[in-house]
Amino acid sequence: MVTSRIAATGAGIPDQIITNDDLAKIMDTSDEWIRQRTGIGERHISGGEDLSYYTSKAAKQIIERAGIAPADIELIVVATVTADYCTPSAACMVQKEIGAVNAVAFDVTAACSGFLYGVSVADKFIRCSIYKNALVIGGEILSKIVDWKDRSTCVLFGDGAAGVLLERSESAGGILVEELGSKGEDYEVLTARRLAPANVFNKLEPQKECGHVTMDGRAVFKFATKKIVSGVEHVLETAGLSAEDITYFVPHQANARIVEVAAKKLKIPQERFYVNIEHYGNTSAASIPIALNEMNEKGLLHKGDKLILCGFGGGLTWGTLLVQW
Ligand code: ACO
Repeated sequence: MVTSRIAATGAGIPDQIITNDDLAKIMDTSDEWIRQRTGIGERHISGGEDLSYYTSKAAKQIIERAGIAPADIELIVVATVTADYCTPSAACMVQKEIGAVNAVAFDVTAACSGFLYGVSVADKFIRCSIYKNALVIGGEILSKIVDWKDRSTCVLFGDGAAGVLLERSESAGGILVEELGSKGEDYEVLTARRLAPANVFNKLEPQKECGHVTMDGRAVFKFATKKIVSGVEHVLETAGLSAEDITYFVPHQANARIVEVAAKKLKIPQERFYVNIEHYGNTSAASIPIALNEMNEKGLLHKGDKLILCGFGGGLTWGTLLVQW
């Protein structure tokens, strides 16, 4: 049976660290409020570089660690809502930067679930034997779309990129089970960058534009805990596994409290959930691959380990993957 397995990880993270105390100097907030409500202590914020700089940095690290030549990469998928341009795609910019001249490159947009959607798409191309490998990167420069005058959202987010190389495998393992879902009817709960249609022939009332992230925080909180719980239950049941068979649960890092509530509902000790939000904030599509790369660098992941990755975000979208390392 053909499957796709994760062969390498890598990341590109801004050097600049902005602490809660740094934010408290420029807005009415405090380290205590942010930590208590979210678990965030600091975040990495771009010093001016755009997304392509960090996605390309992540890509270079992944291919170096995988020992693969750029020309042998067959597919590049970048998950993001903050690409440098509407076109070209972020993936085409990575292609140029790393010299992956033979790859097909495109982006997927599923906000904080984006990396999981990207892995799912790449996995299908590999399983269908269309491509042998795929670079899948999640990256965001959220600092360019948050409203720095809105303390209820801007303190939550950070910048960065990370990803994996997926490779065709004929042995057991890899991406074992997935559950993706979308609920467009609730799209207004979480939006970013509304560009209104405007042209010289407009017949309608001008529509409202909004350049920033808007969010109903409480609605997102409820949706997120519900989807972590149902996603984890679904993939465990589909795989015929119990929570004890899973080495780590790797959730999207939106808020440490969301993970606490979900872990409690699932009756799974919280320590089994990998949480690094304290140092990154919410990096949307980058959060799960940043966590995976950090776990890999710390030597926490061993061949055969089973992981459950779960994400949720704008759209609304969600996804849960069972992955064997
Ligand atoms: N510092 C200090 N006070 C603040 C701040 C801040 N940064 N932000 C808001 N407040 C104030 C509010 O003005 C309000 O004051 P008031 O009572 O005088 O009106 C008070 O704190 C409470 O505000 P709420 O918005 O009700 O705070 P809540 O307890 O709901 O926490 C939070 C907000 C942290 C956003 C929470 O709703 C949450 O975590 N939601 C989940 C959403 C999430 O994590 N989204 C991330 C992006 S989406 C994604 O990744 C899918």
